Formats: sequence, C-alpha cells, structure tokens
Amino acid sequence: MTAADIKPRFRVSPGGRIGGELTVPGDKSISHRALMLGGLATGQTEITGFLAGEDCLSTLRVLQALGVRIERPAPEHVRVHGAGVAALRGSSAPLDMGNAGTAMRLFMGLLAPQPFDSVLIGDESLMRRPMERVAAPLRQMGARIETREGRPPVHIRGTPGLQGIDFRMPVASAQVKSAVLLAGLGARGRTRVSEPAPTRDHTERMLRAFGVQVQREGASVSLEGGQGLTGTAVRVPADFSSAAFFIVAGLIGAEQGLLLRNVGVNPTRTGLLEMLRSMGADIRLHPHPGDGAEPTADIEVHQSALRGIHVPRDLVPLAIDEFPIFFVAAALAQGETTVRGAEELRVKETDRLAAMAEGLSVLGVENHLLDDGLWLRGGPGFTGGQINSHGDHRIAMAFTIAALAAREPIEIHDVANVATSFPGFLALARAAGLTLEAT
Ligand code: S3P
Repeated sequence: MTAADIKPRFRVSPGGRIGGELTVPGDKSISHRALMLGGLATGQTEITGFLAGEDCLSTLRVLQALGVRIERPAPEHVRVHGAGVAALRGSSAPLDMGNAGTAMRLFMGLLAPQPFDSVLIGDESLMRRPMERVAAPLRQMGARIETREGRPPVHIRGTPGLQGIDFRMPVASAQVKSAVLLAGLGARGRTRVSEPAPTRDHTERMLRAFGVQVQREGASVSLEGGQGLTGTAVRVPADFSSAAFFIVAGLIGAEQGLLLRNVGVNPTRTGLLEMLRSMGADIRLHPHPGDGAEPTADIEVHQSALRGIHVPRDLVPLAIDEFPIFFVAAALAQGETTVRGAEELRVKETDRLAAMAEGLSVLGVENHLLDDGLWLRGGPGFTGGQINSHGDHRIAMAFTIAALAAREPIEIHDVANVATSFPGFLALARAAGLTLEAT
C-alpha cells in the first residue's frame, strides 16, 4: 500500500472482537538509521525486516541521490553497498524528505560536515516543522546552515572540518541527539550530547554495531570524530509504535487474547506499556533470548478494564509517538487522565494535542486542551462521527481503533499518510477483527 493507492478515507464499523496473531511492519526509526549508517559505512549492509513505508523510502531515495548504491531484493530486504563517507556526492536537485521529520533532521547532521552543498525539502507538513533545534548546535560546530524562519527548506553549505562540541539539549529529542552525533562523526575531537531526559537510543546502539566506539556516562553520550563505519547485518524488529495501535485494540476487544510477534521492546520506547499497566492493563511480554542490538519480544494482550491516571512526566519522551492511541485508551478508562509536559506533541506531523482534543470531542469525550498536554474524563465508549486526521498517520490509526468501542460508525478523513509508517495497516486491522473500508 503506498500513498498513491491508499484511499483517502477510512469508514470503520462500530464494535468487533479482536484476536489472533499479528506481525506489524518493521521499526521506522531503526530502518532510517540502518540505511543512513549503511550509506556512511564501508562494505555491505544487509537490512532485513526493513519498513517499506513512505518515510523510509524517502531516506532510501535521498541516499541514492547522494550516490549510494542500494539494492532491494524484496520489499523488506535492502542491501546498501557502502563505499565510505568520502564516496558521497552532492545532489544538484533538492533532497526531498517527504513527510519524514527523522529523515530531515538526521540528514542535516550527516550532511553538515560533507564537502558539498545540499538543500533539504519536504511535504506540506514537514515544511512547517521546526529545524532550528538541529541547525543551532550544528552551527556551534562550525556548520553553515540556513532555514526559513526556523523551518525548511534547509540550505547546508558543506563544511569539512567541523569541531566537536559539548551540547546540552534543551529538548529531550532523539532526533537532535542523533543529528549532532552524526555530525560529530565528521568533526574534529569529541562530540558530547547530554539529554534532559532519556530518549530513544537506537543511534548509539547501531553506531556500535557498525564498529563505532560510543561512550555513555550518565545522561551524556559521546564519540570521537573521524571513526570509520563498517557495513553489517541489521535485523529490524517490528515497530513498537505500530504495535501500540493493536495493543490498545486488544485491551478493548481481545477476550481470548491477541499476540503481537517479534516487537522491538527497547526500554527507551516502551513507556506506553508502563502507562497502560498502571491503568490495569493485562499485557504480558515473552522476550526473545539472544537478540542483536535491539531487544525484542512477543507481546500478549488481553481485554482489560482500565482506570485513568496522571501520566508521570518522565514517561513522556519514552512514549512520545504513542499519545494519540494512549488518549483513546484513556478515554475508555474509568475516571480522569492527565498528561502534562508533552508540548512536543504540538510539533509532530500535526499538532497532536489539538487534533486528539478535536477528535475526542467529536466522539463525545469531555476533555480540555492544555498548553503542554490534555485532560480528559473517561467513559464507557464513543459516539460515532467524522474525524479529521489532519494528514497525520498516527491520528488516523488511533481513531480507527476507537471504533471498536463506538456506538456508530467512525469516518476518518485524510488517511493517505498512514502509508508513511504502516503499509498494510488496513489489511492487518481487518485480520485483527476490525470492520473497515477505504472509500
Ligand atoms: C524519532 C524521534 C522522536 C519521534 C519520531 C522518531 C527518531 O522525535 O517522535 O517519530 O527516530 O529519532 P523527537 O526526537 O523529535 O522527539
């Protein structure tokens, strides 16, 4: 399913039983990184379980535009023929990152130390997203980068000879951390990034798998510039952020249980599990022994009665992409739920706090939008109605799952971007027990 052939609207019938065994597609964050590090490395990088979603395909095409030879023996199997960082070539055309914030921000770090210029663009949503958070530390390293009032297009004047920095991130962002570390690889001396709160650590783990020495001390991670990468095999686990939709679906409707296979359960990604368990969710993990760089597990979910919670602030970065579906679960929990310290949700593919507040109101859920979060009062179910996803894949999928607890059909508009992170969502949702059609 690609953005071109998916229909722009989902119509989901109310109710349904959830069950069986599912494998959701590969992890988006890890697929982006495997491609990029493969492109910087010397030698072959064999990626299996690759996410064939539009975001990662944007990264793949951008690397090809930079001169990296890439084969795709199967949709989820990618072979990158890395010729080392010196083999990258500038592209005369702008590099189009599509809807992918991760691609744009990580490429900013990767491209800043190269000897050629680059222009980075994206779709309508990405052209509105903040890029100064990455441009500012890169400039401190000596990079020459211009944005348009903080947003794309991003013009990078390639500047070999950047200088490593000691950077304290003002926001807890894995994308900023990763961009600075990637620039640090091409800089003189040591680059150190300190995080105000833990964020996903896929870049650090994968750099080590490519032979780079990365040091972690408390809240800081650092590396010495000039280290070469060696191509390797990367097995991409199923994406926890995609599994999250079916975890909540299972909590709503899996009387006999639902099993999600081979899901990445890196602890910097699974804040949602802690949140749901503290609400009373019956979720069991069956870890796989002897995994590679990333831990994986089968996740078993059973229908559960939930209670509302005040989400601890330190869990927010560890569940940052899961709030749309979390709010659906919270709206079905007894009592009040509050999320604070989540202002980052306002600068995702859309303003996810506003989009969720709007959609929940349509479905009859009492809620208040806060500057940095959302308050809501849970209840037994949803009405039906017309939902605007604002072109955001995770908003669209969250409200699709909500229909399991609705009294009338839910129609979700502007769903083409589901293909950015979750190709095949429609078929898997049907296989799990939802009744939905694309119209
Ligand atoms: C990502 C980091 C997160 C997340 C995004 C993917 C990554 O963004 O929301 O979907 O792959 O590093 P921030 O770093 O802006 O929090």
